[in-house]
Amino acid sequence: MSFSIENYKNCNFPSFNKPEIVGYFSLNTQSRLYSQDLSQLKYYNGATIRGSKTKVNLNLSEGINQVIRKPGNLNEKIDHLLQWITENHETIKASPDQNRWLRPDFVCFRGLLTRICSTPYNDQEDWIICAAKFQGTIYLCAFDTEEQKHKFANMSEKNLKFMSWGFKFEQFLLSETPNGTPITTKPVNEAEEFCCLYKSKLGKNTLFYGAEMDGVCSSQPLQEPIDWKTKKFVELKTNRMVKTDWQEKIYKKKLLKWWCQSFLVGIEDVICGNRTDSGKVFEIENIKVSDMPKICQDFWNPCDSMNFCNKFLDHIVAVVSQDYQEAIYKFDFKVGEGMRLEVLPPSSKYFFLPNWFTQKVDE
Ligand code: A3P
Ligand code: MG
Ligand code: MG
Repeated sequence: MSFSIENYKNCNFPSFNKPEIVGYFSLNTQSRLYSQDLSQLKYYNGATIRGSKTKVNLNLSEGINQVIRKPGNLNEKIDHLLQWITENHETIKASPDQNRWLRPDFVCFRGLLTRICSTPYNDQEDWIICAAKFQGTIYLCAFDTEEQKHKFANMSEKNLKFMSWGFKFEQFLLSETPNGTPITTKPVNEAEEFCCLYKSKLGKNTLFYGAEMDGVCSSQPLQEPIDWKTKKFVELKTNRMVKTDWQEKIYKKKLLKWWCQSFLVGIEDVICGNRTDSGKVFEIENIKVSDMPKICQDFWNPCDSMNFCNKFLDHIVAVVSQDYQEAIYKFDFKVGEGMRLEVLPPSSKYFFLPNWFTQKVDE
């Protein structure tokens, strides 16, 4: 069965349920130890006004030599998601008429959905997405292409610095307590994160996905039971100050990823630090996610993105017929060439459902 990148066009926006938080976990220390708690949750003090700019003076290179980097060889796949499921499967278990273990049609990370949503406009980066069916649910996992592996293994000092600037910006704006003062003298630990688990539905398919969250807006410390419906998160970003038409074009293309990433988890505000080439931020801008499509209308259309994602997920459902013990489905996207499907045996290096997970259903 073939799938053309072109067949998503000229459609209405697909139905997409408001994403709801059903759980969370934290990854602590450089080795990213999983714990089902709020230990890595950070608070955003709301120092910016929606749709406006605020003057600041931040140096993103401060303490850059002490940075604790995320190790490159972790090979985590979707293990943290699976770990959460093993401990909380009652929360997402199927209804009796579904005749399977879990309710969602798909389990994956938000980053993978962002990648799919960006594909209609992707002229930069190839991707590999693998699918495995277990107990009626399709699990999706992204794998690095050879080119991506090479890029990460040979990242220049300059690119490592750019990456660290993004994390330092988070440290400048977030605190460990509501209305607390950000502590910016500690080395930034780029391996730590707070992750929320969401449920939603796109078109016909129910989705369950994990997403790394930057900061929550709350004047009180979050404590169980948390009423997530009343809580808002913000997404923090940095961007090189836009001075030329060329930079504006790059920025507007980049906003597609910011829009997808935010929209998929119901984030309404992106807090962007406009930085100089030497990593100084003099201005923070609060960009409304709902304004992004209009700002970028010459470059991308959210309808195309979400329709593509919807159709691609339908396509996966149609082709993934065999169970994970029989086949792994590898979707290869190559810029300029389109998508290719390979059906691989479970002995392949793309197998990603560990025994400790698949055995859980028998308990
Ligand atoms: P910036 O986006 O401000 O550059 P996120 O914005 O998704 O919360 O990620 C936080 C930071 O992690 C980013 O900040 C960037 O520095 C780094 N980062 C995330 N994904 C990356 C990628 N694919 N390549 C390089 N850096 C990345
Ligand atoms: Mg983040
Ligand atoms: Mg961010």
